[in-house]
Amino acid sequence: MADLEKGTGDWRNQTSITEFILLGFRNLHELQIPLFLLFLVIYIMTMAGNILIIALVVADQHLHTPMYLFLGNLSCLETCYSSTILPRTLAGLLTGDRTISFIECITQLYFFGSMVSVECCLLSAMSYDRYLAICKPLYYAALMNNSVCFRLAAGSWVSGFVACTITTCWISQIIYCGPNEIDHFFCDYTPLVKLSCSDTHLMALVIFLFTSILTLPPFLLTLASYVCIIATIHRIPSTAGRQKAFSTCSSHLIVVTIFYGTLIIVYLLPDTDTLRDLYKVFSLFYTVLTPLVNPLIYSLRNREVKEALRKAASEAMNFITNSNLFCM
Ligand SMILES: *[C@@H]1O[C@H](CO)[C@@H](O)[C@H](O)[C@H]1NC(C)=O
Repeated sequence: MADLEKGTGDWRNQTSITEFILLGFRNLHELQIPLFLLFLVIYIMTMAGNILIIALVVADQHLHTPMYLFLGNLSCLETCYSSTILPRTLAGLLTGDRTISFIECITQLYFFGSMVSVECCLLSAMSYDRYLAICKPLYYAALMNNSVCFRLAAGSWVSGFVACTITTCWISQIIYCGPNEIDHFFCDYTPLVKLSCSDTHLMALVIFLFTSILTLPPFLLTLASYVCIIATIHRIPSTAGRQKAFSTCSSHLIVVTIFYGTLIIVYLLPDTDTLRDLYKVFSLFYTVLTPLVNPLIYSLRNREVKEALRKAASEAMNFITNSNLFCM
């Protein structure tokens, strides 16, 4: 507990706060080391899985189609996304130092917020791609070529970062005068705005509107795409045909459900003390778990990814046996 008190002492003397304290999982104090190991394993697996997917998509010519280019972009996003949160959490668990400077906190908020928005846009671009492939197969080649794909991917990245620049600039302007304890394991909007001593009613409203504008249209687009996809698949007469059509979008549907499901639960949950721990647990789902399960789901369920993986593995084996021969 000593580290908790160390930081709290000095804010009272200051007019504005220069550092925050991330309380994290404070009731799990004995579990610091097991938690550290758990998160370390999760982080290593997330990085390895996503980097593997990026390497496969970039290296394998068969995967140079819009669906897999989007998947490569999503993996790229998720390596960055978990790197904005997990290394910081890991360092905190290991050293017990929970302080985070104001600048670090705002930076984390900025990158986290931007990447959540980019993820919403990319997921909806991916479901639009599946919608065209399944519901409008005759027009697919005309409507979804590489240049459209490039524009959708680039648009997702740019809009996510631009929109978050605006909200983050604003949040960094409000005055914090203490207390400086953030009851969360990373700097998120809601806990941070709650700490301000400016009048945040207007700000909370505007941020709510802003996040709705950012996340609602991609969410509705994704939902609409899947309603059309499922309706179309439902009309396919043969079971085999139905399964084949569904198999191309089932991985994506699982990822979308986990991501939006937990995001909606977290932001719609009423903010009470008893639900605070539940809030943290669900935050873990979309910050830590989605980046981890995404490559797993795709590599386990998707035939073409599995094929590319097998080919890459056999090439690697060949390379190793050949280089062994050279050594002998
Ligand atoms: C992301 O999408 C763009 C546009 O289609 C593509 O050129 C690029 O290779 C993709 N990136 C990855 C890592 O797959």
